[in-house]
Amino acid sequence: MKDQTTIRGAVHQNQKHDSAVKQVQGRADYTDDIAEPVGTLHAYLGVSSVAHGRIKGMDLSRVRAAPGVVDVLTAEDIPGVNDVSPTGKHDEPVFPTDKVEFHGQPIFAVIAETRDLARRAAELAEVEYEVLPHAIDAVSAHEAGMPLVTDPLKLERGDVDAAFEGVANRVSARMVVGGQDHMYLEGHIAFAIPGEDEDVIVHCSTQHPSEAQHMVAHVLGVPSNAVVVNVRRMGGGFGGKESQMNLFCAVAAIGAKKLNRPVKIRPDRDQDMTATGKRHDFVIDYDLGFDNDGRIEVVEGQFAARCGYSSDLSGPVTDRALFHADNAYFYPHVRLTSRPQKTNTVSNTAFRGFGGPQGVVAAERMIEEIAYALGKDPLEVRKANFYGDANDGRNLTPYHQEVEDNVIGRVVEELESSADYQARRKAILEENAKGGIIRRGIALTPVKFGISFTATWYNQAGCLLHVYNDGSIMLNHGGTEMGQGLNTKVAQVVADALQVDFDRIKITKTTTEKVPNTSATAASSGSDLNGMAALDAVEQIKARLVAFAVAEWDVSPEEVVFAPNEIRVGQETFAFDEFIKRAYMARVHLSAAGFYKTPKIHWDRAAGKGRPFYYYAYGAACSEVAIDTLTGEYRVERTDILHDVGRSLNPILDKGQVEGAFIQGMGWLTTEELWWDDAGRLRTHAPSTYKIPLASDRPRIFNTNLADWSENREMTIKRSKAVGEPPFMLGISVFEALSMAVASVADYRVCPRMDAPATPERVLMTIERLKAEV
Ligand code: MTE
Ligand code: HPA
Ligand code: MOS
Repeated sequence: MKDQTTIRGAVHQNQKHDSAVKQVQGRADYTDDIAEPVGTLHAYLGVSSVAHGRIKGMDLSRVRAAPGVVDVLTAEDIPGVNDVSPTGKHDEPVFPTDKVEFHGQPIFAVIAETRDLARRAAELAEVEYEVLPHAIDAVSAHEAGMPLVTDPLKLERGDVDAAFEGVANRVSARMVVGGQDHMYLEGHIAFAIPGEDEDVIVHCSTQHPSEAQHMVAHVLGVPSNAVVVNVRRMGGGFGGKESQMNLFCAVAAIGAKKLNRPVKIRPDRDQDMTATGKRHDFVIDYDLGFDNDGRIEVVEGQFAARCGYSSDLSGPVTDRALFHADNAYFYPHVRLTSRPQKTNTVSNTAFRGFGGPQGVVAAERMIEEIAYALGKDPLEVRKANFYGDANDGRNLTPYHQEVEDNVIGRVVEELESSADYQARRKAILEENAKGGIIRRGIALTPVKFGISFTATWYNQAGCLLHVYNDGSIMLNHGGTEMGQGLNTKVAQVVADALQVDFDRIKITKTTTEKVPNTSATAASSGSDLNGMAALDAVEQIKARLVAFAVAEWDVSPEEVVFAPNEIRVGQETFAFDEFIKRAYMARVHLSAAGFYKTPKIHWDRAAGKGRPFYYYAYGAACSEVAIDTLTGEYRVERTDILHDVGRSLNPILDKGQVEGAFIQGMGWLTTEELWWDDAGRLRTHAPSTYKIPLASDRPRIFNTNLADWSENREMTIKRSKAVGEPPFMLGISVFEALSMAVASVADYRVCPRMDAPATPERVLMTIERLKAEV
């Protein structure tokens, strides 16, 4: 018997990612690594060459005649419904039949013996269009009278119009915030293997296997029980694989069933970037009233988003932008409206933060407006506007949820001191005042992020747990692993509850065969939901084991103790394996299906009222930058982060999430720029023209800490908090620091109102504009 006082890999411990070693050694399997059965075919998409047009004729004869081509799929090959819209709006065909609505829209698929042959053949289509007028951005589309892709949302509290009348200071302006490509290392991929009758198995890289299953079933016109979707792991998803894999799964499955051969589809990076959705860029018009102390009295904001040609997830994304347009600040009077604008571009989708970052960045711009108008330090303005609590009445959000767990004051205070903010800001102001070419900026920005899917029914999860009679354990839950470490965390929960070593637990692929009707692994809720479902499964099995021991050894339930890797029954001690074997022989059921649904939440969208979020996660970052005022180039000198994850399930993984999210958020607001030409063609469609942060772009000094004193006041899994998305918005500190450095050229007398992303070109242009203004 092992003599252990604790188990390996318990909760709250630094357990390394269960795939880490395999990933660096290249032994971790992704969809493209699955051995291909003999006869596997490869599909590639043929796409439109106009942004908006009626399809007058499609001559695919040259495609069909190309070497290696086995078949060409068009809308006519779809046995079921020609639609993969995730919200049932029926506005997203697999292949359009009469009109195309963006440049690069998939219109057919070639199936050939090799991927290369399929890709070459796809270029040979001759499609005749009647070209129609197009609009590619949210403003021109609105002016052209294009419709919205879904109903807008309005959040309102207080009396906005009256509040504006009496206010001491008022500023209104527009801010443009760019989109973002997901740039996951592994692109989209689906691999369908036909089975008997109506059956098909689809291996793919989706965050939402159940949705992919249901979409494939619809498209094939078969019940969901004929379709199995499997996901071992993704090479990154970041929201880009919440709904966007539906199309690829559908194409692979249609081809596989039609030809009765396995079909794999994997677009190249350029097609991945042009044919799948991205973060929504926004045009935000704000009108702001505040007193002479810098306290906000009234806010009105309109959030127009480039949604693309279909609704996809644009409804909930634009809703979340409004939910976060307050960030951590109390607005006494507020009216926020969304404008989910249809455009002739690829349909935009989920991306880390899910619209939230676009709301938060607007809140931080308003803080800057106040600071520059009153000549204050933006941090002082921030603090003056933080949410309070029930006692001071400053705790009501624009959607009428009370903020009950506010810790932003403490987080910011601790970071302000650990980052030595005041002294450094003073030194920077003095240095900048000397008028050099290099200017510095520093900013400390907070984040408060609401945790739960705003679609309330999504907040449920399941788990299937088997204990085999040799004592080994197989864990399966409805969440998907995309690098975030979800499987590791859920296995820690199981290890902890059973008091067995982490390595006794095998974490298997996510499959719709084991846990049905799952939600997307999204909204940062993976460990909250699946951790609780797993705990439920463990508790069921433990209860049966205790009942067995009570009956077998005639002890009370309290005398049955799950100690590290052993079970004590009265005076006797059994190794875990031995005890399980005995339970099996006594015919104890050693498998359980766990379930969880988040309590307390509700949301009435029409009224704009409710408690959409179970709780909030908080954090703050302080960044310092240096810019070259002659070229606009810059670098991040130092970043300090303090982030609240409650009682961390796994501090080392959580720190990784915080650092990664910060860098990704920084990339969104600095170097990552999407650019469409007048024809509606995305010209930044490869890493050659689209610049994500490199390792060398990270802050020169980078200190990340978790708020180790924090504990979720709600009954979440082990009192932890979700971590995936909230720290993304810490990247805003870099953007605001750049803004300060730029503002120095006009002696901080004007708010720079720099649009995002703050590429070096934009920094330079803002400097020139500011110099001309003063
Ligand atoms: N981390 C890695 N390494 N790769 C990813 O794709 N996606 C992010 C975040 N962290 C992502 C990631 C997004 S958008 C979300 S919603 C969460 O992880 C989802 O996982 P979780 O709910 O288990 O945190
Ligand atoms: N966040 C992320 N993904 C989602 C959400 C959400 O709130 N709702 C539906 N999909
Ligand atoms: Mo994350 S955008 O909710 O997948």
